[in-house]
Amino acid sequence: MPHTDQNEVLFERARAVIPGGVNSPVRAFRAVGGTPRFVKRAQGAYFWDATDKRFIDYIGSWGPMILGHGHPAVVEAVQRAVTEGFSFGAPTEREIELAEAILALVPSMEMVRLVSSGTEAAMSALRLARGATGRKYIIKFEGCYHGHADALLVKAGSGLATFGNPTSAGVPPEVVQHTLVLEYNNIAQLEETFALHGHEIACLVIEAIAGNMNFVRASAAFAKRCRELCTQNGALLVFDEVMTGFRVGARGAQGVLGITPDLTVLGKVIGGGMPLAAFGGPRAIMEHLAPLGPVYQAGTLSGNPVATACGLATLKEVAKPGFFEALSKKTRALVEGLEAAAKAEGVPFSADSEGGMFGFFLLDALPQNYTAVMKSDGAKFNTLFHGLLDRGVYIAPALYEAGFVSAAHSDDDIAATIEAARQIFATL
Ligand SMILES: Cc1ncc(COP(=O)(O)O)c(C=O)c1O
Repeated sequence: MPHTDQNEVLFERARAVIPGGVNSPVRAFRAVGGTPRFVKRAQGAYFWDATDKRFIDYIGSWGPMILGHGHPAVVEAVQRAVTEGFSFGAPTEREIELAEAILALVPSMEMVRLVSSGTEAAMSALRLARGATGRKYIIKFEGCYHGHADALLVKAGSGLATFGNPTSAGVPPEVVQHTLVLEYNNIAQLEETFALHGHEIACLVIEAIAGNMNFVRASAAFAKRCRELCTQNGALLVFDEVMTGFRVGARGAQGVLGITPDLTVLGKVIGGGMPLAAFGGPRAIMEHLAPLGPVYQAGTLSGNPVATACGLATLKEVAKPGFFEALSKKTRALVEGLEAAAKAEGVPFSADSEGGMFGFFLLDALPQNYTAVMKSDGAKFNTLFHGLLDRGVYIAPALYEAGFVSAAHSDDDIAATIEAARQIFATL
């Protein structure tokens, strides 16, 4: 039978030429089943799929579209940049402007290097940490994602203070043997690991508000202990703020928690939807990078003139007074509305938000680590996901992903979303 839904037609065509029909796995809807929606166009808080159905978009390209789609100031800046040239492979003034804009907003950074993806930024920051400290071990936490560099595709093995196992075929165990994978928010395990390996640890990398196991905050005590143990042991504290940077607040998760990391990794919002990411920190560390120092890092499209124009225009809007207060209020209204609707229908539900980022769980209490997140009811989540999709609300197609509200979402969008969820909660 030929497909009648244009999304299905496109998905079949895509699967013939692109593995799984998608260029990043979560887009394939594997966790929830069904056909991915192919996007035709987007504006403000909405996108339209291949059948011209409109969706309220709570993914926003997985974080970058904090202003909503097609913000006029950003479109204008990109259009102007395009007429001046796509890529030069030589420095431009706009790169300095973007670097200055980032540094002005994030005081822990004195220098920044621009790259093209969060994966590249995190991978490079870890190489820099190892190069600057002359050490080889890194600590990461189960449930945090830092892109798909080999050494970071690793999950906890068995036992405490554990050496990890690769999570992807193609990553030999030897490549992850210097990556220690610990439980998020587990202070005792962290202390034990530093006691055992402290003098060999180059850095600890963390999503201080984690957005890759839905939405889980590092507790204030845990974040503080991360900082203290790194300082005491001469290891660098690396905040991966690819998702949280300019998303949970103007100074990212480090501003929310009041912790100063050594290195910060940025992406998503700083490119405003274009391929742009960055990593930075104190001058003394950043000067280990080539061409000043021995840590090699480079990129043909790094600091691309169109991407920097897009990022700069986006940051200008985000830095305006009151931006995050208004965005936080909207996101909180969504989360509180969903909570009230679930409660009214007797559905276990917990939720949290910071700035324009939120998460919810079909659980009575907010989980503190990856194992607890995975206790969420997958079947109920899928019913909720598809129910919302049918009603024109697009949330992440997997229960371990955070959600994003943009400045373009209206009170009516939020109210419509809560009402759609209420109807589905009534059936759960
Ligand atoms: C915290 C974090 N770090 C790194 C990455 C990787 O970024 P990219 O997908 O741009 O490579 C992501 C992507 O979602 C992320 O959320």
